[in-house]
Amino acid sequence: MSNSGETELLHTFKGIPFTTRSSPELLKSLDTFKAREDDVLLVSYPKSGTHWLAGIITKLYMTQVTVTSPIEFGDISQLEELNKLSSKRIIPTHLDYNMLPPNFKNKKCKMIYISRNPKDTAVSMFHYYRDNPNLPTVDSWTAFFDLFLKGNVVCGSWFDHFLSWAEQEDEKNILFLFYEDMKKDLPKVVKKIALFLSLNVNDNDIQDICKKSSFSEMKNDTEKENSDPNHTVCALTSNRKLIFRKGAVGDWKNYFTPKQNIRFQEIFNEKMKLIKM
Ligand code: A3P
Repeated sequence: MSNSGETELLHTFKGIPFTTRSSPELLKSLDTFKAREDDVLLVSYPKSGTHWLAGIITKLYMTQVTVTSPIEFGDISQLEELNKLSSKRIIPTHLDYNMLPPNFKNKKCKMIYISRNPKDTAVSMFHYYRDNPNLPTVDSWTAFFDLFLKGNVVCGSWFDHFLSWAEQEDEKNILFLFYEDMKKDLPKVVKKIALFLSLNVNDNDIQDICKKSSFSEMKNDTEKENSDPNHTVCALTSNRKLIFRKGAVGDWKNYFTPKQNIRFQEIFNEKMKLIKM
């Protein structure tokens, strides 16, 4: 996967690859992290539309809220910073359900899990690997495809991540969203999010939020901004310009060979057979 010298970009914790931007000490101390009842978690596997959702959620709140850095980002001092925040916290994370600090589960904090067709996620992640200096070099799409299927990528297997969360689908404090639904009917999904977060938002506001959250608006906004270390909700980069690539459904068709598609589909069907969702 990587050129020599790049192996130190990743380390493994509880069997899952993380970048060195997540220190082992921080990951170890997540188990004792203190959640607050009003925390909202924004959960995803990388490249599923996390920034899109974070943008919408911030616009939905009329009161002061802070979208924090991802809970698995940085060294141990980062957790102290989170503890010090006085405003309501919207906390992004790419953590598997099993690695989530137990206090969030015990306190039944609201959590929103966004997922996306894993074929499009794989293609998006392939480009991210290519553009992001915090990730190892990949030689070709074919090589990346194999790594993705085996789960030998940052944040581990898409299938394991999705399953760990989908198994919680009956939990009332978790809202499951799909990127494709957002592309199809964004106002409907925004209303659903507002309802879940108990926010009163009228139809005009919803229309306005949707307009400001279009791919082109968000990409343009990013191009106008200087890269600010607080401007990503992904523990894998602080460079927001790496996030907005194509924003399309079905880009996988431009990359997957028919043989790769069959292989992917077989594994998908097998792994997902017990999931109702
Ligand atoms: P592509 O690489 O397929 O373009 P994340 O935020 O989880 O890292 O996900 C990034 C993916 O979401 C990228 O996918 C990005 O273009 C897409 N995305 C970001 N904002 C979007 C928006 N407003 N509308 C549609 N897609 C968006």
